[in-house]
Amino acid sequence: EDGGPQPEKHCGHGRGGMGEEVKRKEDQRFITGRGNYVDDIKKSGMLHCELVRSPHAHARIEDIDKSRALEVDGVVAVLTADDLLEYDLATMPTLMDDTQDVLVNDKVKFQSQEVAAVIATDRYTAKDGAQKVDVDYDVLDPVVDAADALEDDAPLIRDDIEGQEDNHCLDWETGDEEATAEVFDEAPVTVTEQMLYQRLHPAPIETCGAVGDYDPGKDKLTVHMTSQAPHIHRTLFAQVSGIPEHKIRIVSPDVGGGFGNKVPIYPGYVVAAAASYVLEQPVKWVEERSENIQSTGFARDYDMQGELAATEDGEILAVRTDVLADHGAYNAVAQPSKFPAGFFNIFTGSYDIDTAYGTLTAAYTNTAPGGVAYRCSFRVTEAVYLIERMVKVLADELGMDPAEIRRKNFIQPEQFPYESPTGWNYDSGDYEKALDKALEMADYDHYREEQQRRIETDADKLLGIGISSFTEVVGAGPGKSCDIAGVEMFDSAEIRVHPTGNATVRVGVQTQGQGHETTFAQIVAEELGMDVDDITVEHGDTDTDPYGLGTYGSRSTPVAGAAAAVASRKVREKAKAIAANELEAAEEDITWDRESGEFHVAGAPDRSISITEIAAGAYMNKPAGEDPGLEAVNYYDPPEMTYPFGSYIVVVEVDRETGEVEFEKFVAVDDCGNRINPMIIEGQIHGGLAQGIGTAMMEHVTFDDNGNVTGGDFMNYLLPTSMEIPNFETGHTVTPSPHHPIGAKGVGESPTVGSPPAIVNAVVDAMAHGGISHIEMPMTPDVVWEKLDEAGLAA
Ligand code: CDP
Repeated sequence: EDGGPQPEKHCGHGRGGMGEEVKRKEDQRFITGRGNYVDDIKKSGMLHCELVRSPHAHARIEDIDKSRALEVDGVVAVLTADDLLEYDLATMPTLMDDTQDVLVNDKVKFQSQEVAAVIATDRYTAKDGAQKVDVDYDVLDPVVDAADALEDDAPLIRDDIEGQEDNHCLDWETGDEEATAEVFDEAPVTVTEQMLYQRLHPAPIETCGAVGDYDPGKDKLTVHMTSQAPHIHRTLFAQVSGIPEHKIRIVSPDVGGGFGNKVPIYPGYVVAAAASYVLEQPVKWVEERSENIQSTGFARDYDMQGELAATEDGEILAVRTDVLADHGAYNAVAQPSKFPAGFFNIFTGSYDIDTAYGTLTAAYTNTAPGGVAYRCSFRVTEAVYLIERMVKVLADELGMDPAEIRRKNFIQPEQFPYESPTGWNYDSGDYEKALDKALEMADYDHYREEQQRRIETDADKLLGIGISSFTEVVGAGPGKSCDIAGVEMFDSAEIRVHPTGNATVRVGVQTQGQGHETTFAQIVAEELGMDVDDITVEHGDTDTDPYGLGTYGSRSTPVAGAAAAVASRKVREKAKAIAANELEAAEEDITWDRESGEFHVAGAPDRSISITEIAAGAYMNKPAGEDPGLEAVNYYDPPEMTYPFGSYIVVVEVDRETGEVEFEKFVAVDDCGNRINPMIIEGQIHGGLAQGIGTAMMEHVTFDDNGNVTGGDFMNYLLPTSMEIPNFETGHTVTPSPHHPIGAKGVGESPTVGSPPAIVNAVVDAMAHGGISHIEMPMTPDVVWEKLDEAGLAA
C-alpha cells in the first residue's frame, strides 16, 4: 500500500529492518559450538551405514559375497541391489528423469559408485564390514573424457537404456542460427576462442549425510538429511518409495554449506531411509570427504567455443557458442526441467547484442553424475565466463581498452525491461555506473600506466588488469517456465504473530549458512514495525514449514523473500482492522507509517498503535465480525527473475620466472537492488570471491586414463585458504528490481559467477603484449609459466 521501502531510505529506524547491519542471530549457536548438523544427531538404538564403493570406473559385477562381512561382530545387515529390488528401491530417478542405481545392479559406471551397504552397531564396525564384502568385478574399458566418449569406438556406458547405441546424452540449442550466421559472414571483425570451464566440486565443508528414522508406532518415516530442498526431496521420496507423502518428514537441520551439492538425492540417503524402514531402527550414514568429492554432484565441465562478430570500432554484432558438456554416468544435472543447459542462454551478458546462437551437446562418461549449480543460478556461471572472456579477446584483437569496449556495448538503463536475443527479460540495470565506480576504486588509470612501465623496463613481474561486468539471472521461477521434477518453482512464507507481540516466521527455503534467520526476520520487522529480536525464523522441516522449492541459485531473497514481504502485508491488512477497532476510528482513516512502524489515525498523529498492541487486540479484543488470530501465509510465484549485476576489477602481478600470480588489487562492486543486510551481503561477497579464486587458480577434479579420480580429496583438490585470499575492496550501487515487493535481487552467488573471468582476464592481460589470448583454469604456476614461455616472456 506504501510501495515498499525505497533504496537506502529505509535504513536506521533501529528496529533491525531493511538496510540495517543486524548481527547474525544464528551465530550465537554456531560460534559457541551449539549447531546441530546431521552428524550431531544421535538416536537411541541408532545403527550406522557404510557404503562399499567400486574401485573401478567401468566394470560388470559378477558376484557379491556378503558372508565374511556378516561374520563381523556388530554387523547387522549387508544390503545389495537384490535386497533393494524386493522393495522396488534398487533404482531412483535423477532430477532430470534418468534412472540411477541406488546400489549397482549390473554394471558399475564410475569410480566410487555405490555397490553395497553395511549396517552395523557403530561406524567403525560398519567400515570393517565394508572391507569384507567381496565383489567380483569384470573390468571394462572406461571413458572419462566427453570428446572421447563421443568417438565411434568408445565403450558404451549406458547399455541399460533401451535403444542407446552411443554415449550421446542430449542436444540443446537457443537463438537464431541463420541470422547469426549471416551477421558472422558479413562482419568486419570476428574472434574465436576455445575455453574449458573445468570440472569443479562444490566441496561444502560438511559432507552429505542422513539419519533415517522410521517410527513403526506412528508408521512415519523421518529423514534428517543434508538437504537444500527438503520439500521436493519429500515428494521424491514419496514417489519412489510409495510411502504416502504425509507419512514422510524430511528435516534439514543446520547445514554446513551446500553450494548446489545438496540439491540432488544420493544413494546414501535412500539406503539410510530404506534400512531404517526395514530394520525399524534409526540408521545414520555420513560420507567422508573423498566419497563426497568422488561420487556426489560435480559442477561445470563445459568445453565452450566462443565467437564474437563486431565492427572495427568495437560494436558487438553477434555472439555464437558451441558447448560440449560432460554429464557423467547419468543425466543427473540439477537444472530446471525445461532448461537442460540451465540458464546458459543468457550468454549475451550485460551487452546489447541483437543476434545470438548457441548449441550444446552432452555426453555420458564413466565419471560421477552431476552438473549441479555450484553457487550459481544453474549454468549462468559458464555463460558469464564465456561472454566476459570473449569481450576481452575482442578488445585485445582490436587494441581497445577492455573498459571502453564494455561501455560501448552495455545495455543502457532506459532499455529496461530488456529482452535478450535468447528471450530473457532483464528487470533493471545500470552497468556503466557499477563499472565507473569499480574503475575509480581500482585506480585503473594508475595501474594501466604501471603496466606499461613494467613492459618498457623489462620488469621481473608483469602487471595485468582484468575486468568482468557480469549480469546474473536469479530467483527461479516463475512457475510457468521453471520447475524441478515437475513442481513449479514458487516459494513461501508463513507468519504467526503471537498474543504477546512477537512472531514466528516459517519459510519454504532452507539456509546453509547464508543468514536467513536474520534477514527474513529483517524483512518482517521492516514490514510490520516489529523489532528484529521479536521474530524467530524457522525452516528445514517439512512437517511444519510451508511447501517450498529450496535454496540454490540465489533464489531465497527473490522468491521466499518476496513471499515474506507479501505475507507481512497480509498481516498488516488485518492489523489495520484491529487498529481501527483499538483506536476507535474508521478503517479507511487508518494509515501505516513505515518510519515509526505504527498505525496512525489520519490527521491525528498522536493517536497511534504498534503491532504489539494490535497483536494483543487480535486475541483479546477482536473487532466484531473478524476471526481471532493474526497470521498469514503467502505462496509467491515471481512474475520474472531478477538480474543482479556487478563490475569486478582484478590487478595481478605475474612472476616471469616462476609463473606465480599474486593479487595486487581486488575490487568488487555489486548491485543486488535494495539491500536487506549490508554486512551479510559483504560476507556473501567475500566467500564467493574466495570460491572464484579457487576456481581460477586451484580447483579441478581430474581423472587418469583408467578412470581413477586423481583430484578426489583435499590433498589433490585444492581449496583456497586465507593464505591465498587477498584483501577485497567491496562497493555497491543500488538499482531496485521493479517487480520484487521490496525491490531486492539475489546476491549470494554473484561473486562466484563474476570473479573467475575477471581473474583470467587479468592474467591474460599481463601477457597480451606477447600475443596470449587465453589461459585455461586453474591457472597454476606451471600453466602460467608455459604461457609466459610461449609468449617469449619467461625470465
Ligand atoms: O538463496 P540464497 O540465500 O543462497 O541467496 P540470496 O537470496 O542471494 O541471499 C543470500 C543472503 O544475502 C541472504 O541472507 C539474504 O537475505 C542476503 N541478501 C540481502 O541482504 N539483500 C539482498 N538484496 C539480497 C540478499
